[in-house]
Amino acid sequence: MALWKLLLACLHQVDALDNGLGLLPQMGYNTWNDFECEGVSAKNISKVADKMVELGLPALGYEYLIIDDCWADHRGKDGKLVPDRNAFPHGMKHVADYVHSKGLKFGIYMDRGRWTCAGRPGSQGYEEVDAKTFVSWGADYVKTDSCNGPDSLEDPPSAAAIAQYQLFRDALNATGRPVFLALSGWHNWYSPYGESLANSWRIGYDVRNWQSAWNFAIRVNGFLSDFGGPGRWNDPDMLVGSSSKTAVQMTPQQSRTQFSLWSVMAAPLLLGSMLSMGHHDLETYTNTEVIAVDQDPLGIQGEIVWENCPLRKRTNIKQSQFYDEIPACQQVWARPITDGFAIVLLNLDAEKPANVSFAVSDVCWSSQAFVGKPCNFFEEASVRDLWRKEHLGIRKFINVTLARDGASQMFKIKPIIPQAPHTSAKKKTPASTATGHRPKSRHREPVSSHFSVALETDAVHFLQQPDEL
Ligand code: GAL
Repeated sequence: MALWKLLLACLHQVDALDNGLGLLPQMGYNTWNDFECEGVSAKNISKVADKMVELGLPALGYEYLIIDDCWADHRGKDGKLVPDRNAFPHGMKHVADYVHSKGLKFGIYMDRGRWTCAGRPGSQGYEEVDAKTFVSWGADYVKTDSCNGPDSLEDPPSAAAIAQYQLFRDALNATGRPVFLALSGWHNWYSPYGESLANSWRIGYDVRNWQSAWNFAIRVNGFLSDFGGPGRWNDPDMLVGSSSKTAVQMTPQQSRTQFSLWSVMAAPLLLGSMLSMGHHDLETYTNTEVIAVDQDPLGIQGEIVWENCPLRKRTNIKQSQFYDEIPACQQVWARPITDGFAIVLLNLDAEKPANVSFAVSDVCWSSQAFVGKPCNFFEEASVRDLWRKEHLGIRKFINVTLARDGASQMFKIKPIIPQAPHTSAKKKTPASTATGHRPKSRHREPVSSHFSVALETDAVHFLQQPDEL
């Protein structure tokens, strides 16, 4: 057995993160897209906290206010991290107390390596000290990044990275305070291991515009649904929005699509802009029906149930940094939720609008809720448009025209189950777009066994053979 496999097999024996948190994907705000290193300060954090309350966001579930990189200045003689004194003149506990006084939860950023990505002190060798420090400040959430640490990213999965994340996880566990742990390793190979390391884990590099949303999230996350679930979420990165004052931007329709898709993916909903948030983004992020999809208690991550995009396999999404042109095609994503399914119909074509017609019964193609049942279990469903907030009646098909360049529509469907279920195998009603294809219906392991089979999955296997494209 290769040494790394042996090492990982041993690592599996170690207790997992056990904080009881993250039964639903986390919701909140993170400073990075808004501020990067300019303006991460106690003053601005207070403004953000005030704005979140003023907009009524905590009541909708946006509970974490997370300070990203650039707050730490140096390590003191006692080994503890010291926040930048100009930006945080009264220290970090003072800031956390203010955030808490607003009814919000406080999150902080660290990096498992020697320096953070922006060159501030990292936690390597100080895992215990830092976990205790964050807890002494009252942290409820820690984002742990992956720059400047021991790695073997050219030969992933990296046992060194995993072992280092475990150190911090254990240090946090040892404090006895339940703290949400969000791992930021930017690679989909973390997914099979994520559950043992953190409450959520990034699956790709930063999403800063529509192109990177395609590359690092949309084309990747459809393959990772087996690994997401209550307490353990694939994280396709923050919500970009269309009103940020920085270069991190989408068009209003792409930003709304991102929100719809993220909800169907059961993704963390972390807002990336706050002080400059415009009306359209606010309307997007406060759609309670879409939020309810994201926060559905079943916690099943949605998948692509139909598409006419060029076929991808796990084997050609292995390099999350690989920049792939957005294809001129359409997809339908679906997610089983407590009372039916949520569906997003998406037009990726940058140039032309598209008509998509989708048979509602096709949602069962890759749905956990329908494993083992004939796909013609139902043919009709009651359909609700989640953005227009309109009931569309009982339908066999959803027909839409989608504008170009990342437009989408989102529906919730409640299947009409026939009184006496069909017993004869009827021919499957095809989705009407002739050139489309459905992913094969996949057998899923029960949630609790994911990790034990992780080493055998192709998600890990393909990463050993990077030239399989
Ligand atoms: C990146 C990370 C970003 C942000 C940044 C801070 O590695 O993906 O989300 O945290 O570091 O330097």
